[in-house]
Amino acid sequence: MFFGTQTINEKGHLEVGGCDTVELAGNHGTPLYVVDEEALRQRCVEYREAFQDKAPSATVAFATKAFLCKSMARLACEAGLHLDVASLGELRLVAEAGVAMEKVTLHGNYKKDEDLEAALDLGVGLVALDSTDEYRRLSQLAAERGIRQRCILRVSPGIDAHTLDAISTGRNDTKFGITVESGAALTAVEECLSMPGIELIGIHSHIGSQILELEPFQLLAAKLMDLLLSAREKTGWNPELVVLGGGLGIQYEESDNPPELRSLAEAIVDGIEREAAARGLETPRIGIEPGRSIVGELGLTLYEIGPIKTVPSADGNTRTYVSVDGGLSDNPRPVMYGSPYPVILANRAGEEASSEVRISGRHCETDTLVPRALLPAPKSGDLLAVQCTGAYNHTMASNYNFFYRPAVVFVEQGKAREVVRRETQEDLLARDLG
Ligand SMILES: Cc1ncc(COP(=O)(O)O)c(C=O)c1O
Repeated sequence: MFFGTQTINEKGHLEVGGCDTVELAGNHGTPLYVVDEEALRQRCVEYREAFQDKAPSATVAFATKAFLCKSMARLACEAGLHLDVASLGELRLVAEAGVAMEKVTLHGNYKKDEDLEAALDLGVGLVALDSTDEYRRLSQLAAERGIRQRCILRVSPGIDAHTLDAISTGRNDTKFGITVESGAALTAVEECLSMPGIELIGIHSHIGSQILELEPFQLLAAKLMDLLLSAREKTGWNPELVVLGGGLGIQYEESDNPPELRSLAEAIVDGIEREAAARGLETPRIGIEPGRSIVGELGLTLYEIGPIKTVPSADGNTRTYVSVDGGLSDNPRPVMYGSPYPVILANRAGEEASSEVRISGRHCETDTLVPRALLPAPKSGDLLAVQCTGAYNHTMASNYNFFYRPAVVFVEQGKAREVVRRETQEDLLARDLG
């Protein structure tokens, strides 16, 4: 599978953004995150246009937890997207990148006072309220500053998005948001509307990630409109905004068939319009906040292949373990969720892929990256590209085993720009006070 501008060049090497991946690895080292800048910019614009063509007032916010560095924050904003941040660190980074704060929403299920104070002081556009305790504290902090903070209330609508447990966040049994079914969300709306430091302008729900069907989003539209109807009957409230989170999946495997952006926009916009009209409600402005489906397919990780071992396997055959110079610390998702990833032998991309091998990392864990990869028989020193690592890799990376987190390179039209440098031993030692 090829994504964005990926192709095989005349040397038989994988090329992305007009750059030869073998040269990228030589110039920037491995492991290396490579981001297809042109395709990414285009994807951001396509996302916004798909929604705004259906509903001109719709906003698309990029969920920065999927992938964040200053260059990404600026790229998303230049493409007309807003940003969703989920911590003080993400908030400060986008502020440093020069993003207009009114385009930023602060999320998080446990925002400490310091997070809320920073949001108020920086002037973020929206705070997504996640709990009773939080909105009471925020109201007080805002009122002390003489501010009414624009907010949306995150609710859990009791929807199973048919995805992995750890990334299914819309069920009743979740730590996120306030439950609709029990009536708690309605009570919270009522209370927020009366709070001096809060201007409640809408509701929010994010039901999960890597969702490959449209139906959960349509169901969500109906559930949210039910809540708005109850809220209007009880309080007369006519909210300005409804945010349906992110969650659209990507093609990690041949069999994954994510809906087109225009189909997603149609399902969400028509769904909200239809469900609002059916209840005699005004159609609110629509927001969404995708992460994975913007950047996931447009990043890849380059690794050098090291030791290769063929060992007896449990089924009486043999298995070939191919170790690469990264793994768990730069991509924890296969270990966390058993997530599949497509691979290409980047320096021999044109050769027939007929050997089945297991790709392993180099950590002191059984950090299998790809349990069954089909490659041209790999050799030590070859270059492996693991595709679809644009989302939740750079941002989830760790220093396990004291490995340095990789550099991030943006590539476009034959030019490579290092936007995050590789970590160094000095970076890691700097925090150790002895
Ligand atoms: C509140 C919220 N919005 C948006 C997203 C982005 O989700 P995805 O990357 O699946 O689009 C997440 C992901 O966890 C989230 O928690």
